[in-house]
Amino acid sequence: MSSIAHGKVILLGEHSVVYGRPCLAAAIAPGVEATARDSDGPVSLHVSPWQCTFAVGDGSDLGRALDALSQALGVTGFDLDAVMHLPGGGGLGSSASLGVACARAVSSLRGLMLDHEAVLAAALAWEKVFHGNPSGVDHTLAAMGGVGVFTKAEGLRRLDVRAPVRLCIGDSGERASTRDMVATVARVREMRPEASEKTFDAIASLVRNGALALEAGDLRGLGELMNLNQALLASLMVSTERLEAMCRAAREAGAYGAKLTGAGGGGCVIALAGPNERAVLDAWEALGVRAKVVEVGAS
Ligand code: MEV
Repeated sequence: MSSIAHGKVILLGEHSVVYGRPCLAAAIAPGVEATARDSDGPVSLHVSPWQCTFAVGDGSDLGRALDALSQALGVTGFDLDAVMHLPGGGGLGSSASLGVACARAVSSLRGLMLDHEAVLAAALAWEKVFHGNPSGVDHTLAAMGGVGVFTKAEGLRRLDVRAPVRLCIGDSGERASTRDMVATVARVREMRPEASEKTFDAIASLVRNGALALEAGDLRGLGELMNLNQALLASLMVSTERLEAMCRAAREAGAYGAKLTGAGGGGCVIALAGPNERAVLDAWEALGVRAKVVEVGAS
């Protein structure tokens, strides 16, 4: 039997969440499926559709993440098969989803009946390999699903969303590591500490208003907040020309709002398209962007 975990989109508040502010995030499915088997060899992981195998001690980040996971769970003597339904490094929480699915697969193989906290702790150890200072939003959403406001201090506060919200997700095709983008923001903060704190505070108020808009079903309002968040993310140096072009194209096609999602430097753009979904997808297709539509907030 395979174990599953969600992917995620950050509707508002990436990066500032690393500095203690709230973010508004939603799980997306399908994320990752994983199965575990007993094995005598080194702990290893085969990932489809990448057709790559990683093992503890092979020097790769995934090999190190497997080691961290196996130590956090206190289990060795297994190997894993995972199927990714998310693009790797696209800002949709693929690495956290892989970590949660693997932790669940190992725990079900050994009949560990791990509680939620133990899965989260193992997935956090995994995530720390990919960037030293994760806020925890990715693996929390991967494990818990749903929609909510996340803070480092308080975890996820779920929101009651009246009806599922449809989002267009376009993949820029560009890639940057989360570690590098988090380091970029840390450098900006070092150079301009006061301005950066003000930017994080401004994003926090977008998140608070965004949560109210989402609960009230005010998608037009939420879209405007996404546009403002994108401008602030650009001021933190995590946008790119292509991401800006995708946001512009989505808005020109009638989207209520569009922004990058996740660490930026590439990866995906989300657009709240309202009645203009087809027009947004067509506009992105004209830019050579691969896109899909997801629903978030469905119970
Ligand atoms: C990455 O999905 C979101 C960031 O805010 C990093 C984090 O929260 O750990 C960029």
